[in-house]
Amino acid sequence: AKMKILICGGGNGAHCFTALASACQNVEVNVLTIYKDEAERWTDALKSSELIVSISKPDGSVTETHSKPSLVTKDPQVAVDGVHIIFIVVPAYVHQFYLQVLSPYIKPNTLIVGLPGHAGFELQCLHMLHRESRKCAIVGFESLPWACRIIEYGKRVQLLGFKDILHASFLLGANCNLQFPAIETIQSILGPIPSIKVAANVLAVALMTGSIMHPPIMYGKWKNWDKTPLDVKPLFYQGVDEEQANIATSLSDEVVKTAKQIQEMCPDLDMSDVVHLSDWFKAHYQDGIADNSSLMMSMRTNRAYEGLVHPMKALDNGYVPDFAYRYTTEDVPFGLVVLKGLAVIAGVATPTMDKIIQWAQSIIGKEYIIGTDLVGKDVKFSRAPQSFGLNTLEQVQDFISSHIC
Ligand code: NAI
Repeated sequence: AKMKILICGGGNGAHCFTALASACQNVEVNVLTIYKDEAERWTDALKSSELIVSISKPDGSVTETHSKPSLVTKDPQVAVDGVHIIFIVVPAYVHQFYLQVLSPYIKPNTLIVGLPGHAGFELQCLHMLHRESRKCAIVGFESLPWACRIIEYGKRVQLLGFKDILHASFLLGANCNLQFPAIETIQSILGPIPSIKVAANVLAVALMTGSIMHPPIMYGKWKNWDKTPLDVKPLFYQGVDEEQANIATSLSDEVVKTAKQIQEMCPDLDMSDVVHLSDWFKAHYQDGIADNSSLMMSMRTNRAYEGLVHPMKALDNGYVPDFAYRYTTEDVPFGLVVLKGLAVIAGVATPTMDKIIQWAQSIIGKEYIIGTDLVGKDVKFSRAPQSFGLNTLEQVQDFISSHIC
């Protein structure tokens, strides 16, 4: 039977996924983008051409796929009509806007997918959909399956590389009667890679270390920066030094400790999916890393990261770091702050995480922690469990159970 899906968003990921999914037989694709004039621009672009994705394969070859979605619109009611799966493919701070505009029109037995979800996505869905979430299923992915970027708006997108595996959470609402196998269906639309691994529970996905890579590298690189512009954009992963790798290692230690503690407090919660960053690297990029003898070398010699530079802004006299980029504005409120919230709930001290959050919140003009306490005025705009009024492990579990049981 034909699957009808909705892809929400109009950026790099939405372009790439729209191109791949529209090329699948038996999949009909609607696109919803509520941002500015994107729906009009994209619709106009498709009048004269198809959507082309050029795909760089692991063996170095490049292929092209041409396809077209059925519809690109900014009208949520029209967009969601008759769809089986809603994929939300936008930066994490935008999730709430899509959940808001779609929630009046989401039909029972719909699967809602955060691609990616980022930490706290599932909690936000349950919170915003209220009782309706009992009739839906929710999947949250730890990251985007591809590195990709738009070349020409609405017309051409470049897929630069695939992840090998991708973890996902899966919540089935108590009254949801899904008519298709959720993960298998998503896998068939994505294609063979990345291979989807369903994590044992939502908290494990939230703690999954993929989203914690950028802030420690940013912090290590820029914490002592003297504000002098640089002549060239520094390499991001290939430029990782011992100190940055050590900061990332300590942060990952704290996250793994939090997972272990949660498992101890609640033996029913299987947290074994939460692994150290160095192991995560080995699992995610099996063949792409030339030297995995240490975390630093894994980062420096990962082929998928070749040439990636720090987010920089060009000034007349050189380059300065762009602290408004997602490595801080997304990975802190929808990454580290959620992890901090879980660490607080688990009673685990997080000196490294606190240092990074302190630095990051000052450069992005937010306040999440005061000292080591998660009590800043902007916690409510993060997705820490505390921002949904959940302050103990029992409360978190009860909240999730009230939707799925
Ligand atoms: P993007 O930067 O291309 O997203 C921008 C799009 O988001 C806009 O075009 C618009 O459609 C939407 N948007 C932005 N502000 C909005 C607002 N206020 N209201 C409504 N819509 C708004 O993001 P991209 O590259 O597609 O990434 C999506 C997610 O995947 C992000 O979480 C990103 O961190 C993650 N990711 C992206 C990778 C990539 O290669 N592009 C790689 C790994 C992760």
